[in-house]
Amino acid sequence: MAVEAATQPGGATPPRHVAIIMDGNGRWATSKGWPRLVGHRRGAERVKQIVRECPDLGVNWLTVYAFSTENWKRSTEEVLGLMKIFRRYIEREADGLAAEGVRMRFIGGRERLDPKLQALMAGIEARTAGNTRLNLTVAINYGGRDEILRATKKLAQKIASGQIDEPTQADFADCLDTAGCPDPDLVIRTSGETRTSNFLPYQSAYAEYEFTETLWPDFSPDHLAAILDRFGLRDRRFGGV
Ligand code: IPE
Ligand code: IPE
Ligand code: MG
Repeated sequence: MAVEAATQPGGATPPRHVAIIMDGNGRWATSKGWPRLVGHRRGAERVKQIVRECPDLGVNWLTVYAFSTENWKRSTEEVLGLMKIFRRYIEREADGLAAEGVRMRFIGGRERLDPKLQALMAGIEARTAGNTRLNLTVAINYGGRDEILRATKKLAQKIASGQIDEPTQADFADCLDTAGCPDPDLVIRTSGETRTSNFLPYQSAYAEYEFTETLWPDFSPDHLAAILDRFGLRDRRFGGV
């Protein structure tokens, strides 16, 4: 999708869409002598807090990386524990999110997920579809390469059926899981790792990146506010001068 951005009175451009690679839950827990799942639970609490703060910070789109296509490599205990956390998050937060004007969506392949989780995901997407205060997208079983492959197959089908003749970038973007969502302006990764780990590779072509040493369970709204302040000072040229 084309990059559009509003301009603040001071001339700074606010990030309309912030995407976060929430990393460091395991190390946070291990450093305290606790099981990794304790870190994931604390991480989910942080998501709730950041979601609540985003509208006041001027962020209208928030995308969070919760589980990658590569995370299935982890122990069965950790994977099942994470899936339980996702189910509980939706069950417990549904009323609050709906009341606070949050529209919730999911990206990533769904077939491999437990049918009960899939049903909860579809349910909250439908329930919050009319909300506009914050667009919250959660990436579960998401991998950029997997998404691009699935999008390519969809596009090929559209071409084969005669729906599309000469595909454009917009036609391709419409086949991605993020169809209809603006590209991220800012991608944040916590925990000190300076890689993108298969997160939104197509959509982040012109995103700004921020890497912070803070582990995700320690990442507070104050950390986010400081990063957003720095973002306002960046000169985004999009290939121009
Ligand atoms: C991020 O934290 C959450 C997921 C990837 C599910 P990690 O679990 O990767 O935490 P570290 O990187 O091992 O500390
Ligand atoms: C990226 O973190 C995925 C999520 C935050 C969900 P990982 O911890 O899985 O990434 P790597 O293994 O450090 O690249
Ligand atoms: Mg990690």
